[in-house]
Amino acid sequence: MTIKKDYDLTKLNTFGISARAKFFAEITNEADLGELFDSKEFKNNKKLFLGGGSNILLLGDFPGIVIVNRLKEITVLDEDEESMQIRAMSGEVWHDLVNFAVERSLWGIENLSFIPGTVGAAPMQNIGAYGAELKNVLESVETIEVKSGHLRTFSMAECQLGYRDSIFKQELKDKYFILAITLRLSKLERKNLSYKVLREYFEKNKLEPKAAKDISEAVTSIRKSKLPDPTIIGNAGSFFKNVFVEEKKLGEFLTLYPDMPYFREGGVHKIPAAWLIEQCGPENGTSWKGYRVGNTGVHKRQALVLVNYGGASGQAVKELAEEIIDSVFKKFGLKLTPEVNLI
Ligand code: EPU
Repeated sequence: MTIKKDYDLTKLNTFGISARAKFFAEITNEADLGELFDSKEFKNNKKLFLGGGSNILLLGDFPGIVIVNRLKEITVLDEDEESMQIRAMSGEVWHDLVNFAVERSLWGIENLSFIPGTVGAAPMQNIGAYGAELKNVLESVETIEVKSGHLRTFSMAECQLGYRDSIFKQELKDKYFILAITLRLSKLERKNLSYKVLREYFEKNKLEPKAAKDISEAVTSIRKSKLPDPTIIGNAGSFFKNVFVEEKKLGEFLTLYPDMPYFREGGVHKIPAAWLIEQCGPENGTSWKGYRVGNTGVHKRQALVLVNYGGASGQAVKELAEEIIDSVFKKFGLKLTPEVNLI
């Protein structure tokens, strides 16, 4: 492993923001990890571990060491008649793990198909889509404490997974490097068609999903139709989190906005941030959806996604995000928070 200096990060973040790292290293095996932890560049600098770079917005050059994780391996640890326990190294591409599962007719992560990024990022924000969450199948997370280099395994409960959230984004932020995750997937059918858009897809195409692979293909197709391909237009998926409100507040909103969509989730109501953004705009009577300013803007098919048309700076994207937050707050009194990590 060599540690490089003044490294261009443009291709390493799906937003396609041009920025540089003071130091850069790529780790492909556990020996690299040991070498990295012993290096002075690692010990004396701020650290940024990157997987697919699909959930970050770089606001400028990174004044420390950027480490790209390419630790790969998927192994079956255990199995019984009903389930299989699988361990995946953190540098695996998430969708490769989904393919590994659906090829073996295992249920549990097919609804999470085609989510960009790596396995290591999955527990960070408890990835979720189409009615499923990592939380439902995760057993444990193996980590290395950055300060000491010691191994520590977190049980699923210890990870404190919430909506796009975990202990690794909160009090243990930047303190642990995720090495591997262990999942338990089901051999028995666990079809999850709770998400309306997914049910409608099968109805519309007159298909009857039988295998996990059928659902994986449907989710992939829906995502491709709604979300911009980062290799063509820079983006990091949903820029903001959805918003949760209590029953009383929802009632008040529905009186004012009878068309407001909402979903019941865990005793509270989720209001799609995309809808809130679509109802607001840079000026009265306009909508953010499809809006463009300079080289940044709001995607025309999903208002939750901010895009870089090429050459936008992280600061410009941030400024647009702030304007959106202000306008939604003025109109609805709800404060949007970014899902993407600003760095
Ligand atoms: N909607 C609008 N305008 C839009 C898009 C959506 O009003 O431009 C409304 C519609 O009412 C729609 C509802 O929002 O029914 C929900 O939209 P969608 O199904 O596209 O999902 P979302 O809530 O906007 C979340 C995740 C996505 C995930 C989808 C599908 C968050 C922050 N985002 O988006 O995750 O793919 O559900 O399950 O929870 C990501 O994290 O990067 C990501 C793309």
